[in-house]
Amino acid sequence: MSNVYLNGEIIPHSQAKISAFDRGFLFADGIYEVVPIYNGMPFLFTAHMQRLDRSLREVGIPQTLNHADWRAIITQLNSAEPLENSVLYIQITRGSEFPRNHLPSANLTPTVMATLSPFPPPAGAADAVKVALLEDIRWLRCDIKSVSLLGNIMLKQQAQALGAVEPILHRAGRITEGASSNYFVVRDGALYTAPNDALILPGITREHVLKLAREHDIEVHEKAFSVAELYSADECFLCSSTREIMPVGYVDEHQIGNGQVGPITQMLIDLFRQSRPNCA
Ligand code: PDD
Repeated sequence: MSNVYLNGEIIPHSQAKISAFDRGFLFADGIYEVVPIYNGMPFLFTAHMQRLDRSLREVGIPQTLNHADWRAIITQLNSAEPLENSVLYIQITRGSEFPRNHLPSANLTPTVMATLSPFPPPAGAADAVKVALLEDIRWLRCDIKSVSLLGNIMLKQQAQALGAVEPILHRAGRITEGASSNYFVVRDGALYTAPNDALILPGITREHVLKLAREHDIEVHEKAFSVAELYSADECFLCSSTREIMPVGYVDEHQIGNGQVGPITQMLIDLFRQSRPNCA
């Protein structure tokens, strides 16, 4: 039986209930976080917690749990149902109130939920995938990890219909990110990714890849690429907590490099896997 942390209790999924007037349900008025756990150890935990705190601050939802509380919740969830490798999903909404009103009342009690689900960490040779270039139709605060993901969902559905595993998004020809991933391109041995601004989620994996690259003397630039520059890049990959590093061979019908996993991408995949807590 799977369990869920809900407002201070660990209970079976089937018993987890929230109000029909929860603002997360009515308005998508909430934020979330996704933390990979390898071999029982949350990876890049502090960075994920700091992003969670920032998301809460940005939308004005009070922080009711600190980092130590979250560590304790992970331990409790894991002992209720031991999983070697898992993904922690955290969702915090502003709380519930009736009648429905866009403007929230002061002093609502946030609804806090968390689950662990099985996560098979990528292993073996990575394959280069196809992505679809689509116009970024999302709001202009993509730096907040908001549960308002309708734009992302619509874009993922469009990409799937085009036979792609993920959309790669652009605004007026400037590449922003994937629908649930950040992007990198390699040109002449240097690594490029979009700058951390309001148009992208400040990915924890993105930051870790930048760190690994710098430590291994790969030149890095935080500068948005144009669509034309993307098409003529030597290598491209997407990254996220659950996909780690996912090489891109094609953007629609445009082959990137030789369409295979490039040498710098492979080097970063190897470094990334070495940096994860030991996992099966
Ligand atoms: N998504 N950009 C967007 C829009 C994302 O949703 C995500 C992650 C990322 C990568 O961030 P990170 O490296 O911190 O996982 C970038 C998570 C995995 C999700 O929505 O499930």
